[in-house]
Amino acid sequence: MSMNLAAIKATPAPEQDHVDQILGSNAASRRAFREAMIKAVDLVAGGAAGHGPYSGASVQGLRSMLDDLDPCPKIGTGVVAALADIGRPAIDHALAVGDPAAMAHLHCPVAVPALAAEVLISATNQSLDSWDQSPFATMVEERVLGWLTEFVGMPTTASGNFTSGGSQSNMTALHLAAARCGDDARTAGVIFTSEQSHFSIRKSAAILGFAKDAVITIPTDADGRLSVPALEASLRQAVRQGRLPVAVVATAGTTDLGAIDPLQPIADTASAQNVWMHVDAAYGGGLLFSDYRYRLVGLDRADSIALDFHKMLFQPISCGALLVRDQSDFSPLATKADYLNPEDAVFADAPNLVERSFQTTRRSDALKVLVTMRAIGRDGLDALISKTLENTLAAAKAIETRAYLRLARQPSLSTVLFRYVSPDGPERSDAITLRIRSALFHAGIAALATTVLDGRVHFKLTLLNPRSTPDVVHRVLDAIGETACDLETHHARP
Ligand SMILES: Cc1ncc(COP(=O)(O)O)c(C=O)c1O
Repeated sequence: MSMNLAAIKATPAPEQDHVDQILGSNAASRRAFREAMIKAVDLVAGGAAGHGPYSGASVQGLRSMLDDLDPCPKIGTGVVAALADIGRPAIDHALAVGDPAAMAHLHCPVAVPALAAEVLISATNQSLDSWDQSPFATMVEERVLGWLTEFVGMPTTASGNFTSGGSQSNMTALHLAAARCGDDARTAGVIFTSEQSHFSIRKSAAILGFAKDAVITIPTDADGRLSVPALEASLRQAVRQGRLPVAVVATAGTTDLGAIDPLQPIADTASAQNVWMHVDAAYGGGLLFSDYRYRLVGLDRADSIALDFHKMLFQPISCGALLVRDQSDFSPLATKADYLNPEDAVFADAPNLVERSFQTTRRSDALKVLVTMRAIGRDGLDALISKTLENTLAAAKAIETRAYLRLARQPSLSTVLFRYVSPDGPERSDAITLRIRSALFHAGIAALATTVLDGRVHFKLTLLNPRSTPDVVHRVLDAIGETACDLETHHARP
């Protein structure tokens, strides 16, 4: 008996109100989607209740707000009430990443085209592991990665995949580099990276099963850039000791100083020793899309590159990519699963991107990059990024004009480090700096970071928002001065 597919397709699904809350293909569920989205968008567009970067709510205050809430009542409230209950405080007590005085971390304001694309990404709910779960989205990712590798200047053999961010990109790169070195990599392998590199390098080495002393830390110059002579000496020494150099990890944009390691000489050293060169460009890779891209000279010589779009490039979290020089380098990840990407391909020529990733189910983050880049264009991106770099230079100047502050280094990217100088000495400066950070955060005046440089606590401004203009920075620096005065008077000395 032949099956009547048309008749089966036409059989209506049982409809109930709560089933319509699941976005399906019927008119009622689409109406429910539209109504809920409008409510959510209205909440976001309405903004938070009149504060700067943060409402000031305490940890305990937030906890008790949520303690009073039944996460899953027996009878649901409906989406409008649920959004009012959760959405309102979620906005009011969020860190307002778009506020120009939100200058703490590598945590960017988000571009409107990307937010619109996020609606498509979530609502279509494509999964990039196999082509049949994401037919168009898979091709979008391929197109974006193909364009990116070409834009960076990698050869046509290059490939990539989208990741959850720099940490995952770094770990994947080290896994691929280790695989190239064979079975001894985990026991005898060593990885060279600067003392300023991101902690995810050390963490990845530990997760991947390298020996405890596998990460060899190379000193940096005064600006925080890896010393190439020290790298060469360290490589020679490791080889003499019978160790196996697995990877040299350079950083293009260190987390604190924004330092860009000398990529060209590092590439010379790595290729002379036939060692994999990975560049963690999670932060500084943003320069590629600006007139400052010349500062990344040598990036195109890397075997692998970590790029994050959720740092300098205005994308909602999460959005990173790992680029590799040769697509065959992904072979250690190219496992086959009968249920997903069987040896006998069901869909001819269809790529199954699970073969390049640690992740199985994976969202279509490339789509928001594509929508944003097309909407804003290269000139538009350059204008936004260049403005953040100009703001950072202006911030450094403003710091230098204040007697109670000491600029640590001239900025390299969009971070600036400086110190509060207490008349009572360095320990008191450290203690007061931390208190100022907390006071300004809770007062909703500014979200600032602190870090340790040269053994002392410093303030760090991370200016990823083109609207963090000199007038905003002046206001924040004045607030630091006023709060310091107050603390010097009232805060008990140890
Ligand atoms: C240089 C650098 N690499 C990697 C990372 C980790 O990136 P992610 O937080 O996206 O995992 C960071 C985070 O700040 C970073 O600054």
